[in-house]
Amino acid sequence: MKKLFAAIAIMSAAATSFAADAPPKYQTSCFACHSTGAAGAPKTGDVAAWESRMAQGMDAMVASVKKGLNGMPPTGLCADCTDEEYKALIEYMAAPAK
Ligand code: HEC
Repeated sequence: MKKLFAAIAIMSAAATSFAADAPPKYQTSCFACHSTGAAGAPKTGDVAAWESRMAQGMDAMVASVKKGLNGMPPTGLCADCTDEEYKALIEYMAAPAK
């Protein structure tokens, strides 16, 4: 029985740290495409894929998400994200995978 509890504790700790690592709205929006690279999206943690895009500057990146870009719908499925939240999401995705 003790072993079972330990396993549950480890599993829930892992799930919590994963969720805490990503900005709050990541799982419900950007994750859908940027986790797998669906429709040609730059993958989360793939620094090389983000580097040339990041060269445009953060304001241009936020503007791309708001108006949509090719396979990405306007707002990136986060209709209530603020500019600050978009910035945090983009920084999270463009950083090396942990
Ligand atoms: C439905 C799929 C989808 C979702 C959801 C999505 N994206 Fe994207 N995203 C894409 C695709 C596809 C591209 C590549 C577009 C291209 O360059 O043709 C992209 C590109 C980007 C870019 C680069 C823009 C540029 O100017 O190069 C940023 C920044 C970005 N996404 C941020 C986000 C953020 C932040 C979210 C969540 C709020 C999000 N995306 C949600 C599909 C998605």
